[in-house]
Amino acid sequence: MRMYDLIMKKRNGEILSKEEIEFMVKGFTEGSIPDYQMSAMMMAIYFKGMTEEETLFLTLAMEHSGDVLDLSAIDGIKVDKHSTGGVGDKTSLALTPMVAACGIKVAKMSGRGLGHTGGTIDKLESFPGFSTEISIEQFFENVQKNGIAIMGQTKDLAPADKKLYALRDVTATVDNMSLIASSIMSKKLAAGADAIVLDVKTGSGAFMKAEQDAFALAEEMVKIGKNAGKETIAVVSDMDQPLGEAVGNILEVKEAIATLHGNGPKDFETLCITLGSYMLVAGKAAENEEQAEKMLREVIANGKALEKLAQFVKAQGGDDSYVYHPEKFDRASMIEKIVAPQTGYIAHINCEEIGNCSLVLGGGRETKESSIDLTVGLLLKKKKGAYVQEGEVLAEIFSNSKEKTQAAKERFLQAITFSDKKPEQTAFIKGIVKA
Ligand code: URA
Repeated sequence: MRMYDLIMKKRNGEILSKEEIEFMVKGFTEGSIPDYQMSAMMMAIYFKGMTEEETLFLTLAMEHSGDVLDLSAIDGIKVDKHSTGGVGDKTSLALTPMVAACGIKVAKMSGRGLGHTGGTIDKLESFPGFSTEISIEQFFENVQKNGIAIMGQTKDLAPADKKLYALRDVTATVDNMSLIASSIMSKKLAAGADAIVLDVKTGSGAFMKAEQDAFALAEEMVKIGKNAGKETIAVVSDMDQPLGEAVGNILEVKEAIATLHGNGPKDFETLCITLGSYMLVAGKAAENEEQAEKMLREVIANGKALEKLAQFVKAQGGDDSYVYHPEKFDRASMIEKIVAPQTGYIAHINCEEIGNCSLVLGGGRETKESSIDLTVGLLLKKKKGAYVQEGEVLAEIFSNSKEKTQAAKERFLQAITFSDKKPEQTAFIKGIVKA
């Protein structure tokens, strides 16, 4: 088999076989197929597309390019959750202890933040001592004993995807639905869970800005999951403004803790309950979503979800007293209020730009190697649709530098659009995609 022939085949709009896709992925991972040939193939795929079957074969080949976790030693149905990423997305922090407190086993691999979106690992590391660099034995033991463990993604998990994503990133071939879906699902399948609940974001802070693209991605991933024999459900949710009120690592951890006390922002709580309900049903801990919702609300009300978070933090070396005393977290040295420059409705928020405000404050990574300031970020006091008077506080900036505060403030104000007319209210949960 020759890579040249495969590129030609795809360029001419023909369908690649399972063997051809496996040959290509294996050769690229091992280095016998050079970047320039794979780049040409990615561009051919970008223009000619892939069938449902080809997408599945690509996903499976990437899944098996490295270690595939076998979680069968852990009792029960293991349910994973994945978010396509957004601003203020602290969902895993509250959701995983909630579902674990309801009896679902959570064995999760998470990533760090990059660009305007944050990462679960960075947020968890806000707890002094907390580590996601635990051995696989420790990971299994914690899941078995406490029902929950989160570790960093190992380099041996879907290495083909890692290499391919880096190539797509520099050859303008990221935004192809089949390539994105196979990239995400190859990692999820390699992580070994029995069922997968996907949180697909749409709006100005999301990867998929247009709702129809988010649904197309959700459908593509659900099909891959089904074809790979794993129950997969996708919830499409709004990311046209930050999730909840907090953006920035420690601020988001505190908001997740408040949510486990039942005092979280409505949109964030709704998302946790919705995703959690599907996780509980997929894991057979509940018969239907209504029963699941009741169970989730109960573990919030009786404190079991909060206790689960504390148990999880402690088991991974973190100081669990912070769960009960979030006032102990380090604080930024200055808090600056941003006030409304005019009276009117908040008609639009450029959500990605709000993520970038946190980035310029030092709360996010510009490159994989950047270090981050966990204390900085923003607290939104007003969200889309709110009517504000000139001079009213829109947000608070948490910062450790006057210059950075100024830069973030200017960016924030440019990200907000005011109007005399009340903007149309849109649904927060856009829809559910099932096989
Ligand atoms: N996230 C991924 O993991 N892969 C993509 O291709 C796009 C987003």
